[in-house]
Amino acid sequence: MESETAPLSSNREFWESRYRDEDPSSPDPEPSPAFTALMEDPALVPPTTGARRALELACGRGGDALWMAAKGWHVTAVDISEHVLATLNERARMAGLTDRLSTRHHDLALSTPEPEAWGLVYANYFHTATDIDRATILRRVSDSVVEGGLLIVIDHGSSAPWSWVQREDHPTPEDLWNSLDLGADWSALVCERRSRIAQSPKNVGGSEGAGSVGAAEGAQGSESAEVRTAWVIDNVLVARRRSTT
Ligand SMILES: C[S@@+](CC[C@H](N)C(=O)[O-])C[C@H]1O[C@@H](n2cnc3c(N)ncnc32)[C@H](O)[C@@H]1O
Repeated sequence: MESETAPLSSNREFWESRYRDEDPSSPDPEPSPAFTALMEDPALVPPTTGARRALELACGRGGDALWMAAKGWHVTAVDISEHVLATLNERARMAGLTDRLSTRHHDLALSTPEPEAWGLVYANYFHTATDIDRATILRRVSDSVVEGGLLIVIDHGSSAPWSWVQREDHPTPEDLWNSLDLGADWSALVCERRSRIAQSPKNVGGSEGAGSVGAAEGAQGSESAEVRTAWVIDNVLVARRRSTT
């Protein structure tokens, strides 16, 4: 949560206008390198038997949802912005992935998708323009994760020079884990800060693009004509639902 000042309804307007105003020449969304590294880590691989069902919250432009669908997951991708979901549906159609990727429009502060036997629940930079009870939302949807399934949450650990919000007091990964209070069924496999170099979107004026958040402390951002780079920190949490058998 980045700003607590706007009324709840403006969160939707905020995101709709951000996505509607996007440069139409922006490249297709890429998956988050932090996420794909987790998904390709043999120690973490989520269940691969049965239907691999994933729920992605706050999917945005959908680089990760498209990547998962291309890897054989059946993905339900949720966002508050109807505009961004329409563009994601079109990308899924162009990529021939409509049988594995479906979108749902929800303001997650008000409603969540119908529970399914998720092998993975995932949220990447689920940061909102108004204060919502994100921990409760994550806990509620994680209730239907299958035994052995994963919850992956990647948050900003710092603010990029181009980010739409600047703050110094990012919670730690441990704060995130404790806030979720998932109970004894769950264990944290990864709960740590990870740094990487991120690129700003093109022509950004104090805003933030998909997968590019947070400048690492003490790091220098560099600037080119259109795209800037900076060290960023991600707070990375991977939790597994224990098997009871
Ligand atoms: C920082 S963006 C991250 C998007 C994407 N996960 C990514 O990594 O590029 C935050 C996303 O959360 C969505 N969002 C914000 N508030 C929401 C809410 N209450 N319900 C559902 N989605 C929401 C926004 O529309 C936006 O796509």
